[in-house]
Amino acid sequence: MTSTIRSGAGACGGACEPPNGAATAAPRGSLRRPAELTRNVDVSGLVDSEGGLLDRAIFTDEDLYKQELRRVFAPSWLFLAHTDQFRRPGDFFTTYMGEDPIIVTMDKSRRIRAYLNSCRHRGARVCRADFGATRNFTCTYHGWAYDLEGALVSVPNKDGYPESFDAKDWGLVEVPHVETYHGLIFGTWNPAPLSLRESLGDMAWYMDAMLDHDDEGTVVVGGVHKWVLEGNWKLSAEQFATDWYHVNMSHASALTVLSPSGKAPRDEIVHRTGRQYVDPRGHGAGFPVHPKNRFDARTVHEWMDYDALRERLGDARVEGPLTTGHATVFPNFSYLPVNGSIRIWHPKGPDAMEVWAWTIVDKSMPDEVREAQRLYNLRTFGPSGIFEQDDGENWSEVQAISRGFITNGVALNYQMGMGSEREDGRHPGTTSELYSDAAGRAFYGHWRDLMNTPAWHEEKR
Ligand code: FES
Ligand SMILES: [Fe+2]
Repeated sequence: MTSTIRSGAGACGGACEPPNGAATAAPRGSLRRPAELTRNVDVSGLVDSEGGLLDRAIFTDEDLYKQELRRVFAPSWLFLAHTDQFRRPGDFFTTYMGEDPIIVTMDKSRRIRAYLNSCRHRGARVCRADFGATRNFTCTYHGWAYDLEGALVSVPNKDGYPESFDAKDWGLVEVPHVETYHGLIFGTWNPAPLSLRESLGDMAWYMDAMLDHDDEGTVVVGGVHKWVLEGNWKLSAEQFATDWYHVNMSHASALTVLSPSGKAPRDEIVHRTGRQYVDPRGHGAGFPVHPKNRFDARTVHEWMDYDALRERLGDARVEGPLTTGHATVFPNFSYLPVNGSIRIWHPKGPDAMEVWAWTIVDKSMPDEVREAQRLYNLRTFGPSGIFEQDDGENWSEVQAISRGFITNGVALNYQMGMGSEREDGRHPGTTSELYSDAAGRAFYGHWRDLMNTPAWHEEKR
């Protein structure tokens, strides 16, 4: 079952002016930004997605990074938070869209909304807490205050402003479109986007294997773990889209620890077969396929009603993407179904990222099963998890040497599984082998296309 809920899109589909003063696009008055500040580069020569070659400049170049913020992040649907984090009006969570600071909150009518977390006066953040509950957002610099609907409701010493000053013009800048998919909240600055569901395309079928086990949906357990890594955000997003290949080598010690003998990874783990979903909009998912695919956390596995899951989701999903796999929703949201791990790779310049990771569980799980899943996720893919540490080490290793002049000019290879993409008759869309770079080639192909396409905000210049 798939369903899309528009969060408060209302009769105008979310594109109209918000009711109480928040601005969907910040008025700029007489200001005009010269084109020289936002010069764009044609990246066609840096990404050969058909030939499986990449230029390392896309991971290191500061100007390309800024172009990425303008043309990849600004127009795309970006993950914001989980609906379970907002139970009452005034609940809020602060995050980022690209490098833009964002407040996500539930307004008085219980609509989930997102605002730029930057005061309209001198630009300070109006909310400095990670999460909480409030009646309004008061800037701690000079005291301008905004309500849950984004309207500017208090200006100290207001008498000093000219008569032309109208608080209605100075509400928080609102993210124009916020939509949810099975508990996951996404937002986009694009004023006329494809719906979230349309932009997910066939990827939604794979996501449902994690998010749609029953009618109750998912909830968050524990807090949000955040850590900083040296490494471009695409290295991790790409890996979660396309890279089962690294598992046997990079995670050899972790797999050995988890093996019954403790001596070597089980043969059936090393020689798994499976499929990789390849999406034209850059999403990707890989998963072993086996009739007995199951959760590795025993308590969780024993609680799962596999007959009911087969009835709801079908055999292909239960035997594939429901369990041990990896996935990325373009550009920077990834998840691991078996762990209940959802995470976002926040870009922090070309050389660094912040990983923000949640554990989600089925709402129908009893407490002891939720706890088993939470601990399993932390032990494997928490910031000090036995798998997570291996991955972070690889990304940092790649990044640390990529600034070398000669190194930076040496092409990277993404040719595994070339020509293997096809419709397999069992999984929707195009799939490739489990060990393949196909979803990676699609990820970078979509990235290149966005980088070469003027975004809506460039049309006005
Ligand atoms: S910067 Fe917010 S009130 Fe001045
Ligand atoms: Fe890994």
